[in-house]
Amino acid sequence: MVPTGPRGAFLTFEGIDGSGKSTQARRLAEELRAAGRDVVLTREPGGSPGAEEIRNLLLNGDPDRWSAETELLMFTAARRDHVERTIQPALEAGKVVICDRFVDSTRVYQGITRGALRGTVDALHAMMIGIEADLTFLIDMDPEAALARATTRPDAEERFESFGLELQATLREGFLDLARRARRFRVIDGARPAEEIGADVTRIAHSFLETPA
Ligand code: TMP
Repeated sequence: MVPTGPRGAFLTFEGIDGSGKSTQARRLAEELRAAGRDVVLTREPGGSPGAEEIRNLLLNGDPDRWSAETELLMFTAARRDHVERTIQPALEAGKVVICDRFVDSTRVYQGITRGALRGTVDALHAMMIGIEADLTFLIDMDPEAALARATTRPDAEERFESFGLELQATLREGFLDLARRARRFRVIDGARPAEEIGADVTRIAHSFLETPA
């Protein structure tokens, strides 16, 4: 599924639950649109009608509803549909795609929290998806502060946000570890006012889009 020919840019936001990444993804979409860019703002799991249906199956209901392996397959199925129907066509049309979570979330959530599935995540990704973001913002935040924010949100889905503090700390380390290994990451301190974070994100995105690394 590697795109050929002229291509837009694929930007992703990652972070633990409550890190504020969705707010930042929205802000960046607004900033880039205001600067005249053609932007598709999307999210995972979801981002296409079929993948949104899978999202409901994944995020609602009993925490033990799916085995770790089944869950991984469902996230990957949702992603395949999202890439086929939303992300790839937009990139091929030269648009900027901003995605709230992508495979780094699977690497961390499914890869390390429910057993050692990291190798399987990467193998499935290589086989069924095959694309990575060009630039990834990791909104890094102390789990205690992030958890307080995530659990007070009115629209919280049940299954994942019932995670405790210890697990959120593991997830944070998992994201930071990914960020140390790949050049596409920019780690952003999320424990600041949203406007300040947004200003950093916008500056980095503009400079990347002008001269992609
Ligand atoms: P959200 O809160 O950013 O909408 O994400 C919903 C939940 O789904 C969040 O707790 C993280 C989880 N998730 C995974 O476990 N694996 C994934 O691949 C993705 C995209 C999300």
